Amino acid sequence: MTAHKTLITGASSGIGATYADRMAKRGEDLILVARNQGRMETLAARLMAETGVAVEIIAADLADQHDLKHVAARLYDDPAIGTLVNNAGIVAGGAVSTADPEALDATINLNVRALTRLSAAAANRFAARGHGKIINIASVTALMPEQFEPVYLATKAYVLAFTEALHQELHAHGVVVQAVLPGVTRTEIWERSGHDLSALPTEMVMEVGDMVDAAIAGLDMGELVTIPSLPDAADWNSYKTARLALGPNLSLSKPAARYGVH
Ligand SMILES: NC(=O)c1ccc[n+]([C@@H]2O[C@H](COP(=O)([O-])OP(=O)(O)OC[C@H]3O[C@@H](n4cnc5c(N)ncnc54)[C@H](OP(=O)(O)O)[C@@H]3O)[C@@H](O)[C@H]2O)c1
Repeated sequence: MTAHKTLITGASSGIGATYADRMAKRGEDLILVARNQGRMETLAARLMAETGVAVEIIAADLADQHDLKHVAARLYDDPAIGTLVNNAGIVAGGAVSTADPEALDATINLNVRALTRLSAAAANRFAARGHGKIINIASVTALMPEQFEPVYLATKAYVLAFTEALHQELHAHGVVVQAVLPGVTRTEIWERSGHDLSALPTEMVMEVGDMVDAAIAGLDMGELVTIPSLPDAADWNSYKTARLALGPNLSLSKPAARYGVH
């Protein structure tokens, strides 16, 4: 069976809804996952009329264990699914010292736990079949621990590290893995999280269609990490080279001389 279906989480708005549009235009059947069924129905009706692809909707709260297991089971059981776009994510909580702990938990549950569970389900099946694509939406905040909300950016650092590690595990099995690191992108996430997008310089804000088109171009180019706004890919390569250069000295039998331990 050809794996011609793409399952997209957080497909009711913003980046996820835009992936749905672009994937449908590439001829992929879709499974849309989010909580707002009405918005997904409207999107599905448009995409089916415009492109002729089949679009299915799963209304699910991925922060809820029962719903998450249901979506993961679908990834296990449907051999037609060839691509997973792990996009659902929230910004919540703000500063750690003043945050509602429930908001921090909710951020970790969706951005980390759900993404991991769905990646694992897809990895299991895709590796067994020898093909498939897992696209994980991280954020440039993964590279900016000095800025933005601590728990949110840490969840995105997890997504980046997890996706790079997943690539190590899966590439020999024919599975393509990509981490997408959007910068500021014009979607509802800003309003939903109480941040004022209009306060940011317009030259920092990308339109969502441009962001997703660049991310899909990066996928087609075989990039493991796609940073849509980064002008020179060599800058990312230098960063990675500097990190890898630490490797030989990160675990040695003696503490470094500067600590004065004899
Ligand atoms: N916009 C940016 O500037 C930016 C930058 C970097 C990274 N990102 C990342 O891009 C991804 C998409 O965000 P966006 O900007 O497109 O924001 P968005 O428009 O707010 O979309 C978020 C999507 O996630 C879904 N979602 C939220 N909570 C959910 C839950 N508990 N269960 C299932 N679905 C849930 C929402 O749908 P329902 O409400 O219907 O459930 C919605 O479809 C996120 O991972 C975000 O961190 C965004």
